[in-house]
Amino acid sequence: MDARQKEKYLREYSAMKAAGKPFFPYAVGKDGLMACIVMIVIILMSLFLGAELGPKADPTTTSYVPRPEWYFFFLFEVLRVIKPPDLVFVATLGIPNIALGLLVLLPFYDRGPERRPERRPVAMIAMLLTIVAMTYLTLLGAFAGSPITIDEEVPAKYQYGKEVAANSGCLGCHKFGENGNDGPGPNLSEIGARLPKQAIERTLDNPTPPMPSFKSMPPEQKKALVEFLGQLR
Ligand code: HEC
Repeated sequence: MDARQKEKYLREYSAMKAAGKPFFPYAVGKDGLMACIVMIVIILMSLFLGAELGPKADPTTTSYVPRPEWYFFFLFEVLRVIKPPDLVFVATLGIPNIALGLLVLLPFYDRGPERRPERRPVAMIAMLLTIVAMTYLTLLGAFAGSPITIDEEVPAKYQYGKEVAANSGCLGCHKFGENGNDGPGPNLSEIGARLPKQAIERTLDNPTPPMPSFKSMPPEQKKALVEFLGQLR
């Protein structure tokens, strides 16, 4: 802002200030009244409508899909996209706090006098990009596949084996079609074409770390699992 602009601004400001009402008590009174009304509405709603409770927590479930509230989907998706364990702190602390810091410091680095959106291209583009990125990540997070389902269609006789695979934690390290994680284990979408069933079973019993051993899996489950994996090609 140059000296002329500043002088003009101060002139207009003092004229408006002389014509207007003081902040206290007018604005404070108005805000206070509105705050009381909102408060009373919330109290009445909680008295007469009550709060919604979800189903009771079941500590024995193996099919629970952990998900944050919808307004955290974008952070959840950032964490899902940034896979390497060494970089988790970047996703959980780094990105959100850098963004927050930039927002808090905005009045200090954006010293421009302009208030009209069309004269602030940098700020407007940054805002639009942020909104688009957050919307996109929120949608991706909302439609993220469950960590315990495999969507691929299989003939009915392999259905049980597919459920065993989905519920045994394989998806944490392997990808099956569109489901699961791309690593640390190899993609298993076509494992049947690469390994014969005996070799698959041997891998389950004596895997190379970090893959855990599934030696103690009940035999009928393991058989179904191996049959399912063997036909993936
Ligand atoms: C903690 C991560 C992890 C889990 C959980 C896991 N695996 Fe693995 N798996 C791996 C890794 C890593 C390899 C690669 C090991 C190697 O290269 O020797 C692997 C290799 C394999 C292979 C051999 C693939 C190939 O191309 O040679 C098969 C088959 C396999 N896993 C099946 C499964 C099944 C089925 C489950 C679930 C019952 C499972 N894994 C669970 C990490 C995991």
